[in-house]
Amino acid sequence: MAEGRRIVLGVTGGVAAYKAAYLARRLIERECTVRVVMTESAQEFIGSATFAAITGREPVTTLFGSEDVSPHTTLGQWADAIIIAPATASTISKLAAGQTSDALVATVLASRAPVVIAPAMHTEMWDQPATVANIDRLRAYGYKIVEPEVGALAGGDVGLGRLADPEAILDAVDGVFPVRDMDALRVLVTAGGTREPLDPVRYIGNRSSGKMGNALAEVAAERGAEVLLVTAADPPDRSGVEIDRVDTADEMAASVWGRASEYDVVVMAAAVADFKPRITESGKIRRADGAPTIDLEPTPDVLRGVRGMSPRPFLVGFAAETGSLEGAAAKAREKDVDLLVANDVTTPGAGFGSDTNKVRFVFRDGSTEDLDLLPKREVASMIWDTVLRLREES
Ligand SMILES: Cc1cc2nc3c(=O)[nH]c(=O)nc-3n(C[C@H](O)[C@H](O)[C@H](O)COP(=O)(O)O)c2cc1C
Repeated sequence: MAEGRRIVLGVTGGVAAYKAAYLARRLIERECTVRVVMTESAQEFIGSATFAAITGREPVTTLFGSEDVSPHTTLGQWADAIIIAPATASTISKLAAGQTSDALVATVLASRAPVVIAPAMHTEMWDQPATVANIDRLRAYGYKIVEPEVGALAGGDVGLGRLADPEAILDAVDGVFPVRDMDALRVLVTAGGTREPLDPVRYIGNRSSGKMGNALAEVAAERGAEVLLVTAADPPDRSGVEIDRVDTADEMAASVWGRASEYDVVVMAAAVADFKPRITESGKIRRADGAPTIDLEPTPDVLRGVRGMSPRPFLVGFAAETGSLEGAAAKAREKDVDLLVANDVTTPGAGFGSDTNKVRFVFRDGSTEDLDLLPKREVASMIWDTVLRLREES
């Protein structure tokens, strides 16, 4: 995590430079010490006084003539991490070439700290072979690139090239400071919505995207845990997580029940169907045959199966509620889990498919803790913090 770290924030000459002020503010909120380095062009877009007011220190704007005779080496050696946001095509090219003619690139080259680059530019500039090659080169150097997004660009254009969301940039900065407090832990996470086939073409499914489970798996892996993700959705694109891709509730049950006893913690974030069609037709159901009556039967209760294991892993259940979380405490008792994470999927930003979530923790003694609306990765971190604390207390 970036909390309390020394951060050099490099700002270059693009319209998105104004967003760097917000980023500086967010870093200060995380108790980081922030020193800003601005290129000459950046000063055309935003005044140094803004950063001075936010960070409490005058930004470095030049290699020569400041109080410090060698600002680039002082800052480069001081930094725990360097962020460049926004990063122009020009600065990216200078970095790729190691061309240290300004204070920012000189600082990066005078440092051994990890570097996070958030490019922002018009789509045409981003797609240029020169930019593509420069970005590839920076990746090969080990710089972390936070890809730009599709959105409104300068001059009214819309396309790929808008600066990534500041929260995504902060996540990337967190990622360069992994807390390895789960090193000795083996965790199994379930994710996604199961699909119960009606025929070879159609299924009964649900709206779960798998994002919450993916975040849980990713964060656990970053914190050093050995992770198995049993998922009915698209898995995260990262190494360090073992993936078992399943489709149906039966497949999820078989996978989880087959492996859960090897794990210290099982987190059931998947939305598993409660019912499945009693019969799966071998051929496609045809409109011409008239509306079918679909007979349903219960699916296996995956959580109950894990609960009955001996020894039983530490068990975290999820409850997707609609309208109110009042029933969550009763559900926690009924499910007999060590921690229940409940969310009202009808709350804006807390439902399926979104990148944020608003959850309530329900503990064994019936007490609860409501979290704010947070990015799913932050929710995941807080779930793991809570699991570690509860395991230690028990
Ligand atoms: C209005 C305006 C907006 C610009 N926006 C961007 C931008 O978003 N990204 C970019 O790579 N260059 C942009 N440029 C071009 C850069 O400012 C220019 O390449 C400059 O030399 C970058 O210098 P620096 O990387 O040292 O800050 C813009 C230029 C102007 C005039």
